[in-house]
Amino acid sequence: MRPMPLLLFLTLLAVNAGSILPGAAEVENRGQKVWAREGSSALLPCYLSPRKHGKGRKQLSERTSVLWKRHGASAPQDLHVVLEVEYSGLRKTALPMRPRVSVLDSALRNGNFSLCINPVRSDDAGLYEAQVFYNKEIRSCRVELGVVTVKLSPARPVVENEPLLLSCNSSHHARLMETCWFHNGHPVLTSGASCSMHGAFYIHRPTVSDSGSWHCQLRYADNEIVSATHNLQILGFDGPTNPVVYAAAGSAADLPCTLNHLPSAFGIHVVKAHWSRFAGGHLQNWSILQNQSNRSFPLHLPVVGLGDAGRYSCAVTVDNKMLRRDMTLAVITVTPGIQGPVSEGSHLLLTCSLTHPQGHEHFQWKRLSSASADKKLTVATSHNLKDSRVQTGPTLEIPQVSQKDVGIWECSVYGPEGRLGAVEYGLQITGAHVSSPPTIFSGQVTFGLMLTLIFLLMVCVLALGMQKRARLPASFPALERIVAVTLPKEMEENQKETNQQTEC
Ligand SMILES: *[C@@H]1O[C@H](CO)[C@@H](O)[C@H](O)[C@H]1NC(C)=O
Ligand SMILES: *[C@@H]1O[C@H](CO)[C@@H](O)[C@H](O)[C@H]1NC(C)=O
Ligand SMILES: *[C@@H]1O[C@H](CO)[C@@H](O)[C@H](O)[C@H]1NC(C)=O
Repeated sequence: MRPMPLLLFLTLLAVNAGSILPGAAEVENRGQKVWAREGSSALLPCYLSPRKHGKGRKQLSERTSVLWKRHGASAPQDLHVVLEVEYSGLRKTALPMRPRVSVLDSALRNGNFSLCINPVRSDDAGLYEAQVFYNKEIRSCRVELGVVTVKLSPARPVVENEPLLLSCNSSHHARLMETCWFHNGHPVLTSGASCSMHGAFYIHRPTVSDSGSWHCQLRYADNEIVSATHNLQILGFDGPTNPVVYAAAGSAADLPCTLNHLPSAFGIHVVKAHWSRFAGGHLQNWSILQNQSNRSFPLHLPVVGLGDAGRYSCAVTVDNKMLRRDMTLAVITVTPGIQGPVSEGSHLLLTCSLTHPQGHEHFQWKRLSSASADKKLTVATSHNLKDSRVQTGPTLEIPQVSQKDVGIWECSVYGPEGRLGAVEYGLQITGAHVSSPPTIFSGQVTFGLMLTLIFLLMVCVLALGMQKRARLPASFPALERIVAVTLPKEMEENQKETNQQTEC
């Protein structure tokens, strides 16, 4: 069935309810009991139509009027007017309940004279009577309203760790036998039993997990069972109770302090957050200013040092209540076994440690990047990474530091919930560098040196030649040949050029 016809069908059913349902007439004078929770709305049902059948709906509205009255609590014969709708449509409402009571505008036409009370107060409990006047006929409905109250003490806002008393009470007059409590549908046990003789339930240190629906069930001596549900919201912090924040020495850290709800949702408009830390015999303080549309008050530490590790406390003040969350900042450091520069070939131990280990952490070492620009080398080592370059345990051992170990090494801290933090160590080596200087550079040096040598040699040869020219003119080409032979092959051309220049 599509929504439209369904809606139409329900509307027709509602319109005809008074005239076609035989049960509607039986309601008269028998008395019905309705339960409502204090603060919610109550509907006191009354569906009536004139007793004489065969009359059209037109006549129903013609001279119909309704008068809702309430029987006095102490003297039931005293009747107080609650609300009246005259046949002209004019409404009169008695002062005490004026803004809270209503009947449908269409009541006189469709026969639904139900009285709506919103919100219900505990003193609304009692017997109500509707009198419906047709031309000459009077018909009536009697409804008893019972009120159940769920009380929180202290009242809103309910904050975590502050003792809370939930109590349940109803206007029923019989003797209360027991009260049973349910949280999110599950029976709640107090000293082994889920029900108690009295109507209260005490939570010594409420936590955010106590939020949710609380349902009380009151059983009375006359076997009447009355129940009510309260949706409890507890203002507290997000995340675990005693968190540990892991930060690498030298990095920035943000210590979290986040409320689980916006304070403004609890009607709180002034929120102050304050961080403190007791270290080295004195108290450090930070004030965090945030507007009320914020629920996060983190403490930012730009550069974490070993001295920053320890216990921190975030206190958020809402109204006059203070919520506190303690946490630990654990700093992760790497200590190399060798002080100062690391030289090639040495035996290196890198130890990863935590200032505040909780006992469940484990460590893993991994090579992040290689300093070498040679792509083939990086690929080769990262291929080996899985087997030999990922090491578990706090200590990384490099038996013989070599060129390929240069780069960034990362120590990660893992807990049962996953990766908690990481610290990086940049490994650089010194000494024993000469064995493999970059090739282009060495080539240039060799070439320059050679040229200088050749030039010096030429100068000598020329000087020698000038001296001996007169005595031994034929020996010059021979000398030239000898020089050419001693030079490396690649230099021959340059050498010839040099010779030509010298000759010119
Ligand atoms: C009768 O009127 C009340 C409002 O006074 C309304 O909430 C209720 O749903 C109506 N009943 C039917 C059957 O339409
Ligand atoms: C709850 O109990 C107190 C007495 O313990 C009573 O005065 C009060 O009216 C009760 N509340 C309701 C809604 O009946
Ligand atoms: C309040 O804080 C929120 C969240 O940080 C921000 O978006 C908003 O602009 C702030 N409003 C004012 C008036 O500062």
